[in-house]
Amino acid sequence: MKTVVIGGTGLVGTEIVKLLGQDHDVIAVGRTSGDLQVDIESKDSIKALFEKVGPVDAIVVAAGDGVMGRFDDESDHAYDLALKSKVMGQVNVVRVGHKYLKTGGSITLTSGSVAKNPMPNTAAIAAGVGAIDAFVATVALELEEEKRINAISLSLVKESAEKFGMDSSGCVPASDVSKHYQDCITGSFSGQVRPVKN
Ligand SMILES: NC(=O)c1ccc[n+]([C@@H]2O[C@H](COP(=O)([O-])OP(=O)(O)OC[C@H]3O[C@@H](n4cnc5c(N)ncnc54)[C@H](OP(=O)(O)O)[C@@H]3O)[C@@H](O)[C@H]2O)c1
Repeated sequence: MKTVVIGGTGLVGTEIVKLLGQDHDVIAVGRTSGDLQVDIESKDSIKALFEKVGPVDAIVVAAGDGVMGRFDDESDHAYDLALKSKVMGQVNVVRVGHKYLKTGGSITLTSGSVAKNPMPNTAAIAAGVGAIDAFVATVALELEEEKRINAISLSLVKESAEKFGMDSSGCVPASDVSKHYQDCITGSFSGQVRPVKN
């Protein structure tokens, strides 16, 4: 199976590439690194990527920037970034990428637990991932040729918690997170937003 992993050079994406690489022909895509590059904030860049890659069996997105901050911060930065990257970046990968997806292929996006479990200082991110959850459920109804779409709802990953000096005891390591993405590719379900659990 030919699989493109956008964000495939990041903490989570590297583990997805490693795991899928055991059975798939995997292309790791980063913004500045990887086998190929794309900027998901640009639809032209996404189109150029898929023109290079050609038909694929699976598309994974483990990218989409966001920053924390109070909901009423003076700066629009957190909202601009969440909308351009987390929301429209992933939405446009689907809008462009599904045309390159083979019959029966799958798309797996990245959502976040803050959509369902509110946490202070994440309003922009929560609004963004909430939009992704609604998008995935709706697109699943419209995709044809047995194509599927799902999202993995991430909580703080163990390595990130450790990097920020936070309590990582309840967190899942990226290597285990990657198995949830694999389930979305190998399963037969669609329209689901699946939480990462210990
Ligand atoms: N780590 C966590 O605890 C955690 C928790 C909840 C949600 N998430 C979300 O899960 C996703 C992956 O997290 P991560 O920790 O693995 O992130 P990461 O280590 O920062 O890696 C991000 C990956 O996305 C790529 N990327 C960034 N901006 C991009 C763009 N505009 N276009 C294309 N590729 C882009 C990066 O490429 P380059 O390296 O080449 O720039 C890199 O491959 C992110 O959306 C993040 O917000 C992470």
